[in-house]
Amino acid sequence: CSKQPGAAATGAKADAIKIGFLVKQPEEPWFQLEWKFARQAAQDLGFNLVTIAAPDGEKALAAIDNLAASGAQGLIICTPDTNLGPAIVSKARNANLKLIAVDDQFIGADRQPMTSVHYLGISARKIGESVGETLAAEMEKRGWPAAETAVCAMTYDELATAKERTDGAIDALVAAGFPRDRVFKAAQRQTDIPGAMDAANTLLTRHPQVKYWLVCGNNDNAVLGAVRALEGRGIPAENAIAVGINGTDCIGELEKTKPTSFFGSMLLSAKIHGYQTSEMMYKWIKDGVEPPLDTRTTGILITRENFRQVLKEQGVRD
Ligand code: GLA
Repeated sequence: CSKQPGAAATGAKADAIKIGFLVKQPEEPWFQLEWKFARQAAQDLGFNLVTIAAPDGEKALAAIDNLAASGAQGLIICTPDTNLGPAIVSKARNANLKLIAVDDQFIGADRQPMTSVHYLGISARKIGESVGETLAAEMEKRGWPAAETAVCAMTYDELATAKERTDGAIDALVAAGFPRDRVFKAAQRQTDIPGAMDAANTLLTRHPQVKYWLVCGNNDNAVLGAVRALEGRGIPAENAIAVGINGTDCIGELEKTKPTSFFGSMLLSAKIHGYQTSEMMYKWIKDGVEPPLDTRTTGILITRENFRQVLKEQGVRD
């Protein structure tokens, strides 16, 4: 059992395999679910799981040292900063920790993804494209003229998976005939709801003449921040269509009896990201079975109509 701050242990006996699972934003329901499924794997397979919250690089690197000192054999990590990739790899190597990056792929000194590090993440571009296609189809259904409509793309280009998602959404909208010069980007400084709301507010102030809005972004929180900003400016809920990604951080929003402009979300598989990464790590340590270098997961659209059933089918909700 680890004594480091922000770390908690679940699992088996003192001599069992020990695996750390570090995440960048423990307050996000997405990461809480990843941990929940990782704990399930620890229980099923009988290893010790140490969950570690590390919102910044300093905390992440210190946590890896502590984890190694406590005798762990594996680390699964969604790093708070993908540029720490080389530092994390070197720490893990020195401490003999097997390493799997989850969600956010490490970036090397050459600014390219570190494809030699085992990684499990989403098919970001494809999922982004599905967001764009959903927005285009719903806009068409509502008969909005392009001249009165604009896209509010919540961007966080510092993170490769986020950039791929928003680029995919924008490209799909343009491919569906939406004019590229009516796509406006709101760059987030922080990836939480307040950070997104700030960025969206700045963008909306610049474009007061737009009647209808389409909203996409890196994840549910990005899009929810924009939805709150639209509400703050008095844009009626029926004049905006917002589609998120994760599907886990918008359940309260979809449950609201009075619908907001949050139309739906691409539900990702927290179970694969939490349970399967843990299982892959466990088998790697125990039996020497090396996991695939690169695994990508897909998403399914949830809306007000189907979210209860889909979340149940996917094991997110009882
Ligand atoms: C990133 C995002 C999370 C979630 C994961 C999914 O880490 O910040 O909200 O979308 O990707 O892999």
